[in-house]
Amino acid sequence: MVELKTPGEIDAMREAGRVVARALARIAEHAAVGVRVTELDDIAATVIAEAGATPAFLGYHPAFAPTPYPAVVCVSVNDAVVHGIPGRDRLADGDLVSVDCGAYLDGWAGDSAVSFVVGTPRPRDLELIGAAERALAAGIAAAVPGGRMGDIGHAVAAEAERGGYGMLADFGGHGIGRRMHEDPHVANRGRPGRGLVLRPGLTIAIEPMFTAGGDGRYRAAADGWTLHTVDGSRAAHAEHSIAVTADGPVILTRL
Ligand code: MF3
Ligand code: CO
Repeated sequence: MVELKTPGEIDAMREAGRVVARALARIAEHAAVGVRVTELDDIAATVIAEAGATPAFLGYHPAFAPTPYPAVVCVSVNDAVVHGIPGRDRLADGDLVSVDCGAYLDGWAGDSAVSFVVGTPRPRDLELIGAAERALAAGIAAAVPGGRMGDIGHAVAAEAERGGYGMLADFGGHGIGRRMHEDPHVANRGRPGRGLVLRPGLTIAIEPMFTAGGDGRYRAAADGWTLHTVDGSRAAHAEHSIAVTADGPVILTRL
């Protein structure tokens, strides 16, 4: 069931989203060649705690995973697409890093992800990240009252097709509110004019995950969580939690 939020509830969600945005900004500032991935997790834990918020991923146990998620953020490096568990390994020159963070503040969830390169970037990686960001922006722009869910997926997929990038078949965005994952599912593909009618008060996370290889095939690592591309190609992830309002889409996970 899709639960629409009141303007007051959307304001509260924006506060939760701001905490997530702050954690990601702090992480992006700190991330550099030689930094341990666990340091990025520590930063998120600190920012979230300082805000009086609670990590949303830590202990989360969806049906597809063998164990509860053991960290505050997901850090997915190079051929890891999403759900990378922070480890003690250090970031290396040219690594493509995707960081996904979620938090609860006053009973409301925020969920957002960013991708960036540490050290000297490969031009192809910057193009991949740019495409995922453009896809996110296009998906958000489609989230207008009276539009349809299929418009969002279509906008995201059009950007993947333009670059010849792959997408994960079984993962996409989701409703968000009192829980991080709510109805409806927000697919990264769609047919324009089809699907759920978008109404003011709909709050969703839109999250394109692009792989440089065109087939988008992936497999889980031995940890049961980290999803790697099968072809070894690199991947980028961009995500915002947004609200559909009478005035158009509003990004909730922004500073
Ligand atoms: N943005 C991701 C999602 O919505 C974050 C989930 S990570 C998890 O699926 F650890 F919480 F599963
Ligand atoms: Co999400």
